[in-house]
Amino acid sequence: MTNPFELIKSQFVAELATTSLSDTAAVDALRVKFLGKKGLVTELMKQMGGLAAEERPAFGKLVNVLKAEVDQAIEVALATAREAELEQKLNSGWVDISLPGDGIGAGSLHPLYEIREEIVDFFMGMGFHVESGRDVETDWYNFEALNTPPDHPSRDMQDTFYLDKKVMLRTHTSGTQIHYMETHKPPFRMIAPGHVFRVDSDATHAPMFQQVEGLVVDRGITFAHLKGLLFLWAKRLFGNEVKMRFRPSFFPFTEPSAEMDISCVFCSGAGCRRCKHTGWMEIGGCGCVDPNVLKNVGIDGEEFTGFAFGFGLDRIAMLRHQVPEIGLLTANDQRFLRQF
Ligand code: DAH
Repeated sequence: MTNPFELIKSQFVAELATTSLSDTAAVDALRVKFLGKKGLVTELMKQMGGLAAEERPAFGKLVNVLKAEVDQAIEVALATAREAELEQKLNSGWVDISLPGDGIGAGSLHPLYEIREEIVDFFMGMGFHVESGRDVETDWYNFEALNTPPDHPSRDMQDTFYLDKKVMLRTHTSGTQIHYMETHKPPFRMIAPGHVFRVDSDATHAPMFQQVEGLVVDRGITFAHLKGLLFLWAKRLFGNEVKMRFRPSFFPFTEPSAEMDISCVFCSGAGCRRCKHTGWMEIGGCGCVDPNVLKNVGIDGEEFTGFAFGFGLDRIAMLRHQVPEIGLLTANDQRFLRQF
């Protein structure tokens, strides 16, 4: 009787000899034919179950040797075929690596976001804590605790978006000062960038814009500290050439108060239409924290003094990039945004 192991082996050798060794699919078909679920070798292994116990060890040994031989031969054939296919692919076409590639349209930071990041970075470097604050405020935080009397014009319905009698969209970020002082013990320094809302709309005013509030409370803080810090900051924002000045002003929550101007970015101070021929542009308000505000949050004004400031981010972005209309910053017009 012909030995089935020899028979299958010689059939495998013969078929392998006629299989294309540059065709992985053909080699794989051969693998299935011999080693697949219903493959010839597999079927032979299944026969073991029907054998007498004493015949099994010898049969098992032979069938395992056969399987190992076929396995190995297939592995080698597959590797050869894969290599041949790769070789063929490489030869069948070539790529001109000197051709320019497809451009990748990279985006850029929105000018408002960029300014905000820059400002946060500057103040964090000076040890300031960053607070986010909240868009909806009560009368206490937006006005009362900030020493703003009931008849103050900013409380007017014409300036403020009221949600309820004593609840509103915040008109400035200054309320965050109160939240912060109610929950922290001095000394501290913090900034609070965020959106604010006012019933107002023209080329330089929008119903929603962004401000950054700043607050420092410590022992021995003076107006000189405020001026030194803000002048340094303005140079960082607008370059070393920029000139700065403080103008006396009034805010209910600071005493004394000032408004800060920088030399006009359009005419460098010579005077032009944009700066109304003054050579200066206002960028924010500031002052020493009014003792009444400290009292409202339970801070001892004999021991501690402080300063505060509030600047418009949109305004800073407009000046920095010489944007003529505030609305452009939030219109999401690609033609505008692509310029940054
Ligand atoms: N809250 C003021 C505004 O919206 C800006 C401001 C002025 C903030 C003086 C301050 C400050 O903290 O001290 O016009």
